[in-house]
Amino acid sequence: MTTEGFTPQLSHSTDGASALLIGIAARSFDRTQIARELVAMRRALREFIADLSEAQLVPPRLATVNPPLWEASHVAWFAEWFCVRNAYNAEDGDTRADMPSIWIDSDAFLNSNLIAHDARWSLPQVTRAATLDYLDRSLDATLRALNRACDDDESLYRFRLAMFHEAMHLEAFAWMAQTLAWNMPSWVNVAARSVAKEDDHSFAALAPFKYGYRSIKHGFRFDNELGVNHKFNEAYVIEVALTSNEQFVRFVESGDYEKNTQRKHPIYWRRSANGGWQQRRFEQWIALEASEPVVHVSAHEAEAYASWIGGRLPAEHELHAHFNAAGDTWHGKLWEWTSTAFAPYGDANEFKPGLYREYSQPWFDGKHRVLRGGSFATLPIMHHPHYRNFFTPERSDVFAGFRVVSQ
Ligand SMILES: [Fe+2]
Repeated sequence: MTTEGFTPQLSHSTDGASALLIGIAARSFDRTQIARELVAMRRALREFIADLSEAQLVPPRLATVNPPLWEASHVAWFAEWFCVRNAYNAEDGDTRADMPSIWIDSDAFLNSNLIAHDARWSLPQVTRAATLDYLDRSLDATLRALNRACDDDESLYRFRLAMFHEAMHLEAFAWMAQTLAWNMPSWVNVAARSVAKEDDHSFAALAPFKYGYRSIKHGFRFDNELGVNHKFNEAYVIEVALTSNEQFVRFVESGDYEKNTQRKHPIYWRRSANGGWQQRRFEQWIALEASEPVVHVSAHEAEAYASWIGGRLPAEHELHAHFNAAGDTWHGKLWEWTSTAFAPYGDANEFKPGLYREYSQPWFDGKHRVLRGGSFATLPIMHHPHYRNFFTPERSDVFAGFRVVSQ
């Protein structure tokens, strides 16, 4: 296997159905496909880092963003840690690697489980030159390890994990860019954002069902996707479309939005000179498009709207059932808030963390909500009908919207 001759471009699709097919296929990518994706993502990340101004390298200390050099270096470290250095979970509860890192002592400052968020702003060794060099060397080492790996699911687990991890961080760079009003990163497919059709605003009635994976039979699964979620609630009705800007404007202008949220308007909105609304998309202020789904709302804002119209947010299993019934057309191009706290399927005592032990378990804390779907800033390989994202409900910086279930 070689990466020569690849055209390393991130697969952009303009519709959710294609992204979903790529995401489903990605769970079983072979060595060549993984290598292609790793090369494409690393190239995009490298260009993003190289293009940042000196001021952008030191963003304000916000809880929702990382310093970009640290975050890029962490992505490279993660791939090296699991794919090259074969990190494993030891019986004593520690996670160790038998090989040293290319970047001396990097475990102390690039392992996100070891370094406090605030300390990531105080690492003089993480310069742009050192970061770019490490991005390249870690990728080379990862591709060499991939070349030596066997072609079975177990051997490829670490490489697929590193691939998905890098994709997740690319989306995190996108919300960093949105938060800080930077240019749109190259991997964001803003053309994929959803526009509601006229007949979208109807409700579909669905019966409940059960889902989840009993075990990893083929391909890759995240640990939190395993176990069977038994849900047999009453039938319910769910909006076919995500709540639109037009609908949310009515809520904001009613005055009830402010009463419920103590805010004047959603985070990236402002009044335009003609009395309408604008929204900031990355560095640009644009007219708020009535037919697009409302985005950058917290779960609390979403819940306030839903109850204002006499509805509620869907539970995770209700949204899953809707996506299942809607088939390939389900993606709203946004993450969608649910009312469900992030927790394992089935018996929590039987949950088994995956190789990346801290991926899910620390966040089964009752403070995180499940989100489903995938946004226009989500790389196609991440779109999957079983993928469970999770954020704390006050987050309005992520690319999330919602749909409503009628009572
Ligand atoms: Fe990470």
